Formats: sequence, structure tokens, C-alpha cells
Amino acid sequence: MTENKDNIVLKITGVHKAFGKKVVLENINLNLHKNETVVILGRSGTGKSIILKCIVGLITPDSGSIEVNGKNTSELSGEDLNHFRREVGFLFQSGALYDSISVRENLEFPVVRQNNYDGHDVTPEVKEQLQNVSLLDSIDKMPSELSGGMRKRIGLARTLMLKPNIILYDEPTTGLDTFTSKEISTLIVKMKEKYGVSSIVITHDMPCAKMIADRIVILKDGKFIAQGTYTELSNSQDEFISSFFSY
Ligand SMILES: Nc1ncnc2c1ncn2[C@@H]1O[C@H](COP(=O)(O)OP(=O)(O)O)[C@@H](O)[C@H]1O
Ligand SMILES: [Mg+2]
Repeated sequence: MTENKDNIVLKITGVHKAFGKKVVLENINLNLHKNETVVILGRSGTGKSIILKCIVGLITPDSGSIEVNGKNTSELSGEDLNHFRREVGFLFQSGALYDSISVRENLEFPVVRQNNYDGHDVTPEVKEQLQNVSLLDSIDKMPSELSGGMRKRIGLARTLMLKPNIILYDEPTTGLDTFTSKEISTLIVKMKEKYGVSSIVITHDMPCAKMIADRIVILKDGKFIAQGTYTELSNSQDEFISSFFSY
């Protein structure tokens, strides 16, 4: 994709994050374009999740800036902040459903807790999103009745309730069998094609990366050391880069 400035929905510039003396992110720069899926590859404990947490504001970078649709996320307040929370969806690694309430209530939750929720019946939206993940018949189940793959899909349906234009996925297929992983990868592609979503996906699942990535970036020692398409990077002569592709 070309570096068209108008196309950039998320811009990370010079982000630095340390915990005490331990520098995790040293100089992170990334532009995410409209309708683009970027996959982040990196060894465990290298700061991939920290990048996503910085984007959604769970962690504050020590320096650098993050802009969503041209607005600096550290300066948001009022309606801009509400808009940002609807605009950016975050699918946690665990799926993070509330176990004591039904699937239906889990999906209603992001909508009804919005400051400007007008009290309308959310059922049609709940059904639309359950249909997207092919789990409409689980609407009145409890999370404990669902398999790991189903929980991930329900988690995605819940993320979709606010119709985000940007979705951040933290290891969406980890712990799932090959078949279920492929289902989740297919859903990620579907969200992009159906809703024009832009995504950042952290994964170790290379078949998933191959299916979904428009572009792959590789994180090492707090920096992105390479980027390219799956094909480009899989042909790299660099030992570290090619280690991800020899699976
Ligand atoms: N809240 C925290 N306080 C201190 N260290 C942290 C905190 N969160 C993460 N770290 C450290 O930052 C590094 C990167 O973490 P993380 O982004 O979760 O890695 P991963 O690439 O596996 O997602 C790890 O070494 C982790 O121990
Ligand atoms: Mg992580």
C-alpha cells in the first residue's frame, strides 16, 4: 500500500517505554492505513502487548505520540474520548468475557455502558454480531458452556458491538486448534472486507499471519527491524527474520 497520508488511521511516532531500568520499547514508529491488516511478529516478552496497551491508553508511553485519525490520543477528552473508545476495539488475549452473565449480556455491555447510551433495544445489534461469528444460537448461553474457540468468537462479536474502525487483536488464535485458528483468521479477513476495518494483529501463528497480513513488521530489541509482505519477509536472508518463517 502506498504511503498516502490521508489513508493513515493510526500513527505511532517515536514511542519509548521503560519499566524501571528495563527498556521495552525504544523507538516504535508505525503507520496503519485504512483497510490494512498489519501483523506484529516478535519473540515472547519483547513488548508486543505493550504496544497495543499504549494505543488504547492502558499504558502511557514515556515519550512519543500516538494519533488516531489525526488526533493525539493523550490529549483526548469529552466527546473525542468517547469517539476514540468506539473507534478502537481491543480483543484481549483471553477473550475476557464476564463469566457470570450470558452471551447476550456480554454483548450488550459495551453499548449500554456508553455515556450517551439512549436506552434503545440492543437485541438487533447483538444478533447481527453473533451472526457475524456464526454463533447466533449461543445467545442465551453462559460463557462456561462455550469452548475456547467459541469464547474467542464471542469476544470478537463483543468488540464489534461498537462498530470500531480499528481493531487490535492480541494473539487471537493462541491456544486454539488448527481448525479453530483458521476460523478466527477467516473472521479477521471478513471484518476487513465487510466493514473496512483496519487492524493490528499480534500473532505467533504463521498460517494465520499468511492468511491475514497485508504487511508484517518484526519487533526486536524495542524496535521494528523489518517490514514487508509475508512473501518478502519469508524470502529474507536474515537469520532472525527467517526464523519466524521456518515453522
Ligand atoms: N506493568 C508492567 N510492569 C513491569 N514490566 C512489565 C509490565 N508489563 C510488561 N512488562 C514487561 O515488559 C516486557 C514486554 O511485555 P509484553 O508486551 O507483555 O510482551 P509480549 O511481546 O510477549 O506481548 C516483558 O518483559 C514484561 O515483563
Ligand atoms: Mg503479549
